[in-house]
Amino acid sequence: MSEFAIPATPDPAEAPAINWGIIAPGHIANRFTREVHQYTKSRILAVGSRDLTRAQAFASEYGIERAYGSYIQLVSDPDIDAIYVANPHSEHHASAMLALDAGKPVLVEKAFAMNAAQAEEMFAHAVAGNLFACEAMWSRFLPHYTATRHLIETGALGQISGVHADHTQSLNLDPERRMMNASLAGGALLDLGIYPLSFFHYLLGTPVDVHAEGVLTTTGVDLREAITLHFSQGRYAQSLVDMSARGTNAATITGTEARVDIPGWFYRPQDVTFTPLNGDPVTLKTAVEGGFQFQAAEAARCIKDGHTQSSAISWADTVEVLRITDAIRAQLGVAYPQERK
Ligand SMILES: NC(=O)c1ccc[n+]([C@@H]2O[C@H](COP(=O)([O-])OP(=O)(O)OC[C@H]3O[C@@H](n4cnc5c(N)ncnc54)[C@H](OP(=O)(O)O)[C@@H]3O)[C@@H](O)[C@H]2O)c1
Repeated sequence: MSEFAIPATPDPAEAPAINWGIIAPGHIANRFTREVHQYTKSRILAVGSRDLTRAQAFASEYGIERAYGSYIQLVSDPDIDAIYVANPHSEHHASAMLALDAGKPVLVEKAFAMNAAQAEEMFAHAVAGNLFACEAMWSRFLPHYTATRHLIETGALGQISGVHADHTQSLNLDPERRMMNASLAGGALLDLGIYPLSFFHYLLGTPVDVHAEGVLTTTGVDLREAITLHFSQGRYAQSLVDMSARGTNAATITGTEARVDIPGWFYRPQDVTFTPLNGDPVTLKTAVEGGFQFQAAEAARCIKDGHTQSSAISWADTVEVLRITDAIRAQLGVAYPQERK
């Protein structure tokens, strides 16, 4: 990695220790808890659920000191330094506002909100309280994302012509599942598509045009979409997003002088390969264990340093990506019930 002078990613184990509270002990809260405990000095001090027995079961599994049967009780705990919001997309706005009202910084799972307007309200609330708020788009804090962007910014790829990254998974499509539920802002786009869209935005900025075609489920969410983003200087990004079938989920960034490949699932920790137009491939050793600890450590650093947003994913970044998902949903004809009121 050194021959490219890739900026080092701060070691999560060196970040300041803070006490986390978790809103909603669901699927992804398990991973956050495990990786914060394994790789950082911080601890999950408390967990809150709509059901006390669920909170107690989660607390007992991970040795968490406090369990609450409501989110308001959780955010009112004076010993908690920050709240990780890990419920369905439809609930992020209400949960983050609750936490910010109680004076707590928030790290909110992706997609940060159902739409850009909600995100703007949440960030305005963070401004009012002078509090940290950030989207838990964990990939943006990982070393291979930093390395990829560095290679583009230093001109090592020449002129960028395009980026390709799919996010396709074969998920359980039972109509009762969260992903199939329009009231919970389910669908492929906010759960899966948000990764390539945030990646494209991270590398190329704000698109000048957005085009999408897709297929909806009988429950009214998007099952699959093909997305093309057009950026300035004739650059393009393309993605197939699908929750019914799994592909490689690899990514390629193509430039006039070289290309970068992320050969495994592009948004997970990976080594990346740099291939010059007329040279041999060079593998950059950017893979790491875990992954969620990087976002948790960055949040802890920002909170201790008095920053309200992270440079890894600013408020404007989150809002601009949600403007893209808003535009895609408008083209697909997907509106969540809460947006139709
Ligand atoms: N970063 C990643 O790799 C990753 C992976 C998967 C998901 N996610 C994100 O994490 C978030 C949660 O996803 P998940 O798969 O963990 O969700 P989940 O397990 O289906 O639900 C999480 C929690 O949300 C609450 N909840 C469930 N259904 C609800 C409803 N109908 N109304 C209100 N609250 C409800 C429940 O907590 P209570 O006990 O409080 O009811 C539940 O335990 C989403 O934003 C998703 O996109 C991220």
